[in-house]
Amino acid sequence: MAVQRGTEPPFVVLGVGAGIAAYKAVEVCRRLVDAGMHVAPVLTEQAQRFVGRTTFDALASEPARVSVWEGDAPIAHTRLGQLADVVVVAPATADVLGRAAAGLADDLLTTTLVATRAVVVLCPAMHTEMWEHPAVQDNLAVLRRRGAVVVPPETGRLAGGDVGAGRLADPERIVDAVVQVLASRARSGPAGDLAGRRVLVTAGGTREPIDPVRVITNRSSGKQGHAVAEAARRRGAEVVLVTTTSLPVPAGIEVVRVETAAELETAVADRVGADGEGVDVVVMAAAVADFRPVATASSKLHKVDGPPSIVLEPTPDILTGVASRRRPGQVLVGFAAETDDLVERARAKLVAKGVDLVVANDVSAPGVGFDHDTNAVSILGADGTVTEVPLTSKGAVADAILDRVVALLASR
Ligand code: C5P
Repeated sequence: MAVQRGTEPPFVVLGVGAGIAAYKAVEVCRRLVDAGMHVAPVLTEQAQRFVGRTTFDALASEPARVSVWEGDAPIAHTRLGQLADVVVVAPATADVLGRAAAGLADDLLTTTLVATRAVVVLCPAMHTEMWEHPAVQDNLAVLRRRGAVVVPPETGRLAGGDVGAGRLADPERIVDAVVQVLASRARSGPAGDLAGRRVLVTAGGTREPIDPVRVITNRSSGKQGHAVAEAARRRGAEVVLVTTTSLPVPAGIEVVRVETAAELETAVADRVGADGEGVDVVVMAAAVADFRPVATASSKLHKVDGPPSIVLEPTPDILTGVASRRRPGQVLVGFAAETDDLVERARAKLVAKGVDLVVANDVSAPGVGFDHDTNAVSILGADGTVTEVPLTSKGAVADAILDRVVALLASR
C-alpha cells in the first residue's frame, strides 16, 4: 500500500540495531521505499557487524548514517528528527530499548530518538531470555507510555538454532505498522489505535461499611485498573475511570471516585446506559465485594458490647449486568484474581459472565497482583485463545490487554 503526504513522500527514519535480524531491515527498507516513502537509514556502530551500510545506501532514499559526526550536515540528528514522520527501529535490540528508555543520546540513532516528535515504531528482536527479562519489558512499557508503537516479536527460530519468542516481526507487518501510523496521523493527529473509542475502566477494591469506622474490603490496590485507563488514554480513547482509590489520575481521563459496590454499580450504569450505547469497551478491573453487610450501624459498634454478628448479603454482579445489556460490537473484559485452578476458574467466569476476555492472575505468586507494580496474567478469550503475559510492569500488562481489545474491535 502506498502512502503520500500531500505531494511529499512520508519521511521515515529506519533505525537498525545490532542484532542478527539486522539483515531483515534490508527487506524493511526496500518495502518502505516501494510503498512510496522517503527512507533515511541510521545504523548503530555495531549493526554494521551484521549488515553493511552499502546495502542500505543502494536501496534507501539517501545514504545510510552511523555517526553524529559524519557527512556534510553537522547536526544530522536534529535534521532527521525534525523531518521524520515516523522513526521505525528494526531490530530494536535490548540495548537500543534500554538507551532509548533512559533518554540517552550517545549515538546518532538514540540522539535522533530524543530529537524527534515523530511517532516511534519499535520492533524488538532478541533471544527469549532477553525479551522476557523485566528490564526489557519495563523499558518497553516506559517507551509505550511515551507514545511508542510496538510491533511485538514473533515466536520461532532464533539465532543459534534456539526456538522461542523474540524473532523480529515479519517485514510485511513492520511496514503495515508504519503505514497504519501514517494513516492514523492523517486521520486524527497523534497515532492511537483506540482513537474515537469510549472506554470505561473500573479499579480498586470496594469498601462495604459495617459501621461509621469499619469496612469490609480486599487487598486490591487499583494499580492495574489505573494502568489500563492510562494506556487507553495514551492510545487515543476517551476514558472514564471509576475508582475506589485516591491514586493520581493523569489529565485527560475523567475520574469518578466511589467507595461501595452500590456506588460503583450506579457509576457504571450511568456511563454504560440502559442499552449499552454509552461506551465501546468496559474493563472491569475493580475487585468488587461479593458480599456486604445487610445493615450498616449508624453509630460505632463498641467492644464492650461483645463481638457483633454481621449478616452479609450478596452484591449484584455488575459485570454480568453490563453483559446482559450489551450492544453488538461492544467489548467486555473481566478480571479473575485466583489462588488456585487459575485457568479453569477464569474460563468458568468468562462463560458465566458472558464477556469477551478474562484477565486471570494468580495472586498467590510472587510479584503478581495486589499492590505490586508488576503482574503476570493469562488473558483468556471467548474464542478459546489464551495470551500469556509473563511477569512485567502493570503498564505492559495494560497494553497487552488493550492489544486484544483493539483486535476484537477491529473484527466486529
Ligand atoms: O466472580 P468474581 O468476583 O471473581 O469476578 C471478577 C470479575 O467480576 C471482575 O471483573 C469484577 O470486576 C467483576 N465483578 C462484578 N461485580 C461483582 C463482583 C465481581 O462486576 N459483584
